[in-house]
Amino acid sequence: MTTITLDAVGKSFGDNRALTDISLQFPAGSFTALLGPSGCGKTTLLRLIAGFEQPSTGVVRFDGNVMADGVRMVPPEERNLGIVFQSYALWPHMDVAANVAYPLKGRGFKRDEIERRTAEALAVVSLRGYEHRSVDALSGGQRQRVALARCLVTGTKIILLDEPLANLDVHLRAAMLDVFADTHERTGATIVFVTHDQSEALALADTIVVLDGGRVQQIGTPEEIYAEPANAMVAGFVGRGSLVAASHGFPVRGLPVPNGKVLVRPHAVHLAENGLPASAERVRYTGASYETTLRLANGDTLFADLPRQLAIGEHVHLTVDDAWSVPA
Ligand SMILES: Nc1ncnc2c1ncn2[C@@H]1O[C@H](COP(=O)(O)OP(=O)(O)OP(=O)(O)O)[C@@H](O)[C@H]1O
Ligand SMILES: [Mg+2]
Repeated sequence: MTTITLDAVGKSFGDNRALTDISLQFPAGSFTALLGPSGCGKTTLLRLIAGFEQPSTGVVRFDGNVMADGVRMVPPEERNLGIVFQSYALWPHMDVAANVAYPLKGRGFKRDEIERRTAEALAVVSLRGYEHRSVDALSGGQRQRVALARCLVTGTKIILLDEPLANLDVHLRAAMLDVFADTHERTGATIVFVTHDQSEALALADTIVVLDGGRVQQIGTPEEIYAEPANAMVAGFVGRGSLVAASHGFPVRGLPVPNGKVLVRPHAVHLAENGLPASAERVRYTGASYETTLRLANGDTLFADLPRQLAIGEHVHLTVDDAWSVPA
């Protein structure tokens, strides 16, 4: 297991500043999601950890050993890490076993050792029995698992995943979330998982780092990020919800902010006999509930998951049982 530490890391491409003053620790055995909108610097951060990019400023360390700073640079192949990219980059002319065993080639392993490690890696991703299948004859999720097995085969202590589920349909994504969770449990590797999908981040990670504009916006557990977002960017990016004026009179957690807004999650809004007057503007059936857009008297919009279907324009009363004061 390996602890990854970034100390005041910055990265510029010419005049374009991709990352600014990133100080993060990924403890040994942790599972961290890097979450943020397109272009916020997620891939660049992963490539800095992997050694495909050199930091413009600051230091990258593994277990306290300098991997890169402005002067030194340990190449990727000497960092003992495994990477799975969005495009799995498998060898189409090789079978599953040959793809998985590929990183062991030329490293002086005996044949039975290669077979043992390959079998172990395939077992982690539930692909025993597929050894001699051509990768062309696999589904997207199976290919994804081959790519993951290939990154496990060397006994790597760090696994870097860059949007590995982006090409998969919703069912495969759910199944792969379980595979990643199992892999983490079985290998104890330090995992850094890049995604712009907040539900993946919330489901998988023990820590979420939210990035925007090349800067860290918040570091926290999924629960903290969801329930106590550090600013309006995080509140807007993670989970559904509405930012409304603080003056509606419902209970608010967190420090009151002058002229600040409060975040209300859809599940905290309830229909009531007495309460805040509102009218229904839009209703969308989701199967589990009706996603309803409500307009409050002061013009604020409130999203709610309601158990019954309101008519458009219907006047109702609401209670809100939880809200969080969001610093600007
Ligand atoms: N090799 C490069 N040369 C110049 N600019 C780059 C290079 N790589 C990345 N950038 C810029 O750095 C910023 C961060 O890019 P990065 O690929 O890290 O974003 P990302 O968060 O991974 O986005 P996405 O979700 O779209 O993959 C962007 O503005 C991008 O244009
Ligand atoms: Mg990217």
